[in-house]
Amino acid sequence: ALACACRRDRAGTCTVPLLLPASRPARTAGAPAQSQALAITHGPYIQAPSGSSITIVWTTNRPCASRVEYALSPEGPFASAVEVRHGLLEANTTLHRVRLGGLKPGTTYHYRVVSREIVSYEHLKVVWGANVASPTASFTTLDTARAAFSFLVLNDRHENVAGLLKALRRADWSGVDIVFYNGDMLHFVDSEEQIMRSVVDPSMQVFAARIPFVFVRGNHETRGGFCRRLLDYFPTESGQYYYTLDHGPVRFIVMDAGEDKIDSDPELHGLSDFASYVEAQTQWLKSQIAQDRWRQAPFRVALVHLPPGRTADARMVRRKYVMDNWVPLLNSGGLDLLLCGHLHRYAHTPPQKESNDFHIVQGGTDTTIRVDAAASLLTVTTVTDSGEMRGRITIPRRQRPAATAPAER
Ligand SMILES: [Fe+2]
Repeated sequence: ALACACRRDRAGTCTVPLLLPASRPARTAGAPAQSQALAITHGPYIQAPSGSSITIVWTTNRPCASRVEYALSPEGPFASAVEVRHGLLEANTTLHRVRLGGLKPGTTYHYRVVSREIVSYEHLKVVWGANVASPTASFTTLDTARAAFSFLVLNDRHENVAGLLKALRRADWSGVDIVFYNGDMLHFVDSEEQIMRSVVDPSMQVFAARIPFVFVRGNHETRGGFCRRLLDYFPTESGQYYYTLDHGPVRFIVMDAGEDKIDSDPELHGLSDFASYVEAQTQWLKSQIAQDRWRQAPFRVALVHLPPGRTADARMVRRKYVMDNWVPLLNSGGLDLLLCGHLHRYAHTPPQKESNDFHIVQGGTDTTIRVDAAASLLTVTTVTDSGEMRGRITIPRRQRPAATAPAER
């Protein structure tokens, strides 16, 4: 007999046989390891969504080689995908990432992950161990033809797992296709265990096996001895922390302002060059807003952890950089909405002359921003973890076309 563990939120009965004998059933993702048996320890969770691809990430307690099996129907037939780099299948690792390409937009796929233990890996001999597989879950690819959808934005949870879980559990999930974590979900990045405990595991408990979260890097996530590994856990299609995403009537642009302080600040230990990094993004942003796809999108929404602003403290240069360099480009590009965090309180800045020609909504440490995107209207509703309304704004689709070129500065 074969064990089959289906996700509870899926309707119907799963008939997909897993590769496991009943004596070794698939563990519920996120549950603590109870023995030394091969197990999936975190995930699988959905990352890097697009109209034609998605990446699935998980960890195991022992080194494995892994694959993802996926199909249009829970009954199959299943295709199998592995990750290949430089001619080698990813193997002998406990962190598994498999990108599925060639997918159809707006299409639901059923998937499970399978890892096979590598007991030893020597020059002339590889000893294989047991298999472990996840329950079957499903995800849906993004689709620019979708008439309407919703997304959630949370930020600055700073490893407050109880608060994050409270927010996720009380959120209105109807029509939600993407969750954005808009920076500083971690206080610093020291270990895989910390990334899992603070972000992945609570997300798995509520949605992350079937809905992607998009991790926007905050300044705190540039800190700590493990911070250079963050993209291994939250991979992106561009391989960068800045990129665009398209879904329904929205073109998203995700940017990374890096650390809030000047690179020469002693707190940065001489280990950063964010000045060059943000300048490269300025050039990239210029090319993005000149694209037809940007100009023709019904709505343009940007996510940047640091809000534009000026402070009296001369060390704190980055928010001013965003204000002086990115805001004018986003103005000329006809941005509709900028979503920020960082200051730990909710704020709404409507469009104003001489500054931002778009709405800025800044989430707090205890807020969930829900955006309902329809063909002619964005509705931005922000509630606290206790359900208290912080604000609701509506942004109609602009009548005038976006400018075709950025103003020269
Ligand atoms: Fe921050």
